[in-house]
Amino acid sequence: MLRTPLLIAARSARCRALVEHTPLTRGLVDRFVAGETLEETMPVVTGLTRDRLVTLDHLGEDVADATQAEATVAAYTRLLAELGRAGLAGRVEVSVKLSAVGQALPEDGEKIALHNARRICEAAAEVGSTVTLDMEDHTTTDSTLGVLRDLRVDFPWVGAVLQAYLRRTEADCRDLAGPGSRVRLCKGAYDEPASVAYRTRAEVDLSYVRCMRVLMAGDGYPMIASHDPRMVAIAGALAARYERSPDDYEHQMLFGIRDAEQRRIAATGRRMRVYVPFGTEWYGYFMRRLAERPANLAFFLRSLAGR
Ligand code: FDA
Repeated sequence: MLRTPLLIAARSARCRALVEHTPLTRGLVDRFVAGETLEETMPVVTGLTRDRLVTLDHLGEDVADATQAEATVAAYTRLLAELGRAGLAGRVEVSVKLSAVGQALPEDGEKIALHNARRICEAAAEVGSTVTLDMEDHTTTDSTLGVLRDLRVDFPWVGAVLQAYLRRTEADCRDLAGPGSRVRLCKGAYDEPASVAYRTRAEVDLSYVRCMRVLMAGDGYPMIASHDPRMVAIAGALAARYERSPDDYEHQMLFGIRDAEQRRIAATGRRMRVYVPFGTEWYGYFMRRLAERPANLAFFLRSLAGR
């Protein structure tokens, strides 16, 4: 019931000002965000890589001008160089939102995003890391998959996120289940209309299982991004059915969510990758995490009431 208002608030400047200026928000944000700067974040990443893989996300989305997009590219270039210097590029890749590199700009947004994403891919290739494109709301899906296709001509290892709540996604999984393809399958975190998306939990879960089956049966590399114990178990069963070895697919979860389960999966010899966001632009990401789980919201409201 609260999911939709929270996701609308995630895009409201007024709500943003309120939430960002509440001192106690910080404690809860710290649960989901590894640090504000790269310097704060690197020790967290190094610690995680002892038993897990990592994908690093420099927080930010919907940039409104080319200067901001340029700053995002600079931040990724710097962080990839740092991963190379630290000898972590083999265990740490990066996740990029195209709206953070210009996709939403009114003129030539997609072209600018492609150019900027290409520069990030070049920086990743230089140190031996990889890039996965995050997926935002459904109005951007075609554009993001178009950019993915273009990038894969020169960088065949670029991955993309697909969202099981979209009705189109099973077909997209079929398109992207070929050799060399890397697909991160998640349920989906935005507020989408019924015309394009399944709206009940049961429908989304069924779609997730159908999509997983397509990816596991295919020739690509499935990345199972879910904290749901049923999806984790079904992924294991499908991997066995389609004779995938533990290094032929991976599980992925978000930083700060089900950490003990992440360690348990890693200890069984399976690949477990943690999505680690960092930076100061945490508002949209944080609100989507609140919307996913009422208990997070209750905790947040108690902090507000007690201030
Ligand atoms: P579900 O929501 O059913 O949760 C299962 C269980 O996980 C819950 O019962 C709870 O225990 C735990 N849990 C889930 N969310 C929690 C939270 N916020 N706080 C505390 N516990 C929580 N989405 C998108 O639209 N575009 C994208 O690019 C990405 N990228 C992405 C990368 C990775 C690596 C992951 C893991 C997820 C994403 N997502 C995403 C988010 C995704 O779409 C989805 O919203 C969340 O993963 C929650 O869905 P689950 O599959 O975990 O199941």
